[in-house]
Amino acid sequence: MKSFVTGLPKVELHLHIEGSLEPELMFELARRNQVAIPFSSPDEVRAAYQFTNLQSFLNIYYQGANVLLTEQDFFDLTWAYLERCRADNVQHCEIFFDPQTHTDRGVAFATVVNGICAALTKAEQELAISSQLIMCFLRHLDEDAAFATLEMALPFKDKIIGVGLDSSEQGNPPEKFARVFAKAKALGFLTVAHAGEEGPAQNIVDAIELLQVNRVDHGVSCAQDPALVASLAATRMPLTVCPLSNTKLKVFEHMTDHNLVELLRQGVCVTINSDDPAYFGGYMTANFMAVAEAFAISNAELAQFSLNAIEASFISQERKDELTQAVEAYLQQA
Ligand code: ADE
Ligand code: ZN
Repeated sequence: MKSFVTGLPKVELHLHIEGSLEPELMFELARRNQVAIPFSSPDEVRAAYQFTNLQSFLNIYYQGANVLLTEQDFFDLTWAYLERCRADNVQHCEIFFDPQTHTDRGVAFATVVNGICAALTKAEQELAISSQLIMCFLRHLDEDAAFATLEMALPFKDKIIGVGLDSSEQGNPPEKFARVFAKAKALGFLTVAHAGEEGPAQNIVDAIELLQVNRVDHGVSCAQDPALVASLAATRMPLTVCPLSNTKLKVFEHMTDHNLVELLRQGVCVTINSDDPAYFGGYMTANFMAVAEAFAISNAELAQFSLNAIEASFISQERKDELTQAVEAYLQQA
């Protein structure tokens, strides 16, 4: 099982690049940039990763991002993630970044985008890993701040395929950003949004209807509403599900309680992703393995998660066909 999962060609659609900051790199960047951090070793950082819910994680995650200051920092962060992609046979990835986490600390939008994109270009050339970049609005901040961020992105529009919505779901429903998303769409950005992670099924309905999203990030609370599940399956609206994240943040107590396999079997376009792998205990292979160990699931069903991610990705039909063939050929020889 482990070797099947490790070798399976994968596509990641839900990865916050700031959430791939490993404690060792956090320490190196803190030293390089002379930023004080309230820990004395990487092990002490790891020991602090005991989360009770989404907010308890976000508080630590935003603090960790303070060490990221220069273009080189964003390059190093992204390159480290891409090396994990190579190890896990992730052949295409769509990466989130949170511009406001950096611009609000005085780091220029260009510094962030240029650092990330330099690593993505190098990975395309040297590792044959393709990628897209999605910028997320922080939903705990207001609509004006999101509009200002959208404005800042315009000079980089050729590098950013879409906009997303993340941070604290409770108290910040999709409707708060309906006008920003309408403008982003009119400008030609694709759209995604975190919905139904900690929030109710209605947030998923609203993300689809009010924000017109192309994919729903998480979306696991759809199970509260059987009519919504049927509609997700009928429309093939993708869910970018993050198994280790969901158990670490207590969305599900145990992996065996998770609903992703049941949703897959109901025909929903479920995908497996790592969300914030440095904080939740693993990258793509670890997430697939956690699911494979918790459920009686066939190789074909595991491969279906990859096929779903290819279907849901923001890439050309030609690249989709190439990746689909790679997954099918792998499944046949397994
Ligand atoms: N930002 C980073 N990870 C997140 C998550 N799982 N939910 C909401 N916002 C996030
Ligand atoms: Zn997320």
